[in-house]
Amino acid sequence: MNEQNKTGKQVSAVSKTILSGIQPSGKLHLGNYFGAIRQHLDFQEKGKAFYFIANYHSLTSVQDGKRLREYTFDVALDYLALGMDPEKCTFFAQSDVPQVLELAWILGTLTPVSMMERGVSYKDKVAQGLQPNIGLFTYPILQAADILIYHSDVVPVGADQKQNIEISRDLAARFNRIFGGEYLRIPEPYIVESVATVPGIDGRKMSKSYDNTIDIFDSGKTLKKKVMAVVTDSTPLEDPKDPDACNVYALIRLFAGEEKNAEIRGKYQSGGFGYGHAKKELLTLIGDYFSEARVRREKLAGDPDTVWDMLREGGRKARERAETVMGPIREATGIVRHFSTQ
Ligand code: ADP
Ligand code: TRP
Repeated sequence: MNEQNKTGKQVSAVSKTILSGIQPSGKLHLGNYFGAIRQHLDFQEKGKAFYFIANYHSLTSVQDGKRLREYTFDVALDYLALGMDPEKCTFFAQSDVPQVLELAWILGTLTPVSMMERGVSYKDKVAQGLQPNIGLFTYPILQAADILIYHSDVVPVGADQKQNIEISRDLAARFNRIFGGEYLRIPEPYIVESVATVPGIDGRKMSKSYDNTIDIFDSGKTLKKKVMAVVTDSTPLEDPKDPDACNVYALIRLFAGEEKNAEIRGKYQSGGFGYGHAKKELLTLIGDYFSEARVRREKLAGDPDTVWDMLREGGRKARERAETVMGPIREATGIVRHFSTQ
């Protein structure tokens, strides 16, 4: 896969190390799927991929052990059902690699406070009135450790993660400069700019924090209720409509192939096609698109041991790799240790 990354260079991921993570802080929704998960699935074919469930990051917002465990399991189920293949990539929970916390601390000692104060996501949350904890403040440092500890080359993420990848690049370069060697590899972001922000039911960015999501595995009445609730304007049924100004169409275009898209655009523009009709189309498209994944998910949900075993095995592989990167870093920084974490 070749796509322009933000530095304008072509990223060819063949035989490179690819890494990405997703927080288990609620059910995964269509924004997560089109903004991130779909790219993750594509990339497992393109190199040595590491994907993890960022449970330490979620602890900055989910402070309920039972829920965090459930969400962690749900994210694993969702990814596996959607096509993540543990034979092709290393899929694991962040907490199975304790070295990442060790590296995060070390990187934190090189991080100017002012760099964190400029964090867009941190500033947004504070502006919304959230009382920030230190974990939220230093979130990008832990993310940098996640990335750097596997010598990742390419990090596929949604556009909102650009700044965090910049911070990872900066911290890797700082470490190498201060300790005088190529200890950490400088990662490249991979951002699919063509995926516009997926709108939620209320027309704002689809997000767990706005309570406006359509979840990937919503079904039946719940799915129908949400689709029917997508906000539209009040153009009468018989009038022509602009598909590009419609939240329902913004969702339809993600699911429909080229032909179907052209057909639906035509219907909008010629009139006599109401928003109710468009919503019915959307409902069918979502149902069809995830139908196989839904069956796989149900099957896996009945076999939790298999899911946990896959994560356990992924964690073992990830720790092995992390340890090879951490050894020279301990050496360079003069951190002694008299036991093994592998
Ligand atoms: P949320 O806003 O629901 O908390 P996250 O911040 O956990 O979602 O996002 C996880 C990933 O999904 C990120 O890479 C992000 O870019 C992507 N993503 C989330 N919401 C959207 C959206 N509405 N449109 C496109 N991508 C999204
Ligand atoms: N911050 C990312 C998000 O909210 C999740 C994440 C944590 C991540 N560590 C990462 C993504 C490392 C890519 C690489 O979506």
